[in-house]
Amino acid sequence: MLLGVNIDHIAVLREARKVADPDPLDALGICKRAGADQITIHLREDRRHIQDADAKNIITLSSLPVNLECAIAKEMIDIACALRPHRVTLVPEKREEVTTEGGLSVEGKQTKLQVAIKRLQKEEIEVSLFIDPTLEAVKASVALGVEWVEFHTGKYANVYAMLYANLAKTHHSIKELELSRVELKEILSEELCKLRHLSCESMERGLRVAAGHGLNMQNVAAIVEIETIEELNIGQSIVARSVYVGLEQAIIDMKAMLIR
Ligand code: PXP
Repeated sequence: MLLGVNIDHIAVLREARKVADPDPLDALGICKRAGADQITIHLREDRRHIQDADAKNIITLSSLPVNLECAIAKEMIDIACALRPHRVTLVPEKREEVTTEGGLSVEGKQTKLQVAIKRLQKEEIEVSLFIDPTLEAVKASVALGVEWVEFHTGKYANVYAMLYANLAKTHHSIKELELSRVELKEILSEELCKLRHLSCESMERGLRVAAGHGLNMQNVAAIVEIETIEELNIGQSIVARSVYVGLEQAIIDMKAMLIR
């Protein structure tokens, strides 16, 4: 299984002080040495972590393919077309969110998406849509002619954390907190079933399938078992572990979890 390492969180640390280090560019060689298959970065409209210069330098200098995540906004598509990364993953963006909290909702955005996708594909950039695991989203992605979909695993990760990790450290609604362990176990297995079924369905319809969001050393194993998911994009948990074990070891350890 392929591993895309999302290095945004290195820039989060730098931007906390508005200084020059740590520079996400320095992560490229480490990611490659540790066996990462792809570098993933998210150029957000509010530039809260990755900056334009980071995106330019990373895309120009990376010897690994770069997956640039961005909103469907014209400004972002202009930048992507100019920088020509290997892949662009179109993601929903809300200024007030801490991170990308859900998949793209295609409804009402078909024309905007079609224009963006055509422009990117004309530049020979692979296009992926970050979607929630639903059949409608898969069908809409097929209709839009993208090469990849990436399933948002946030709900799976949240429910996993509620069941098996320290409750106080997870983000979830009060409503979810009131659910019993039996209900949480059911939701978790439903989410896994959905991911398995929809990744299979996507593959049969000609899409390549990635997944990501909230995955870590504890919860990733069940996702790795889904053979039709080719690639995972993982950021926060790898960078968090790297504080203690170093970035190279954190990637080596995650990559070992992805062996089927
Ligand atoms: N994939 C996409 C499309 C994302 O937007 C993100 C981060 O928001 C990730 C993967 C990685 O998520 P995490 O940092 O939770 O591992």
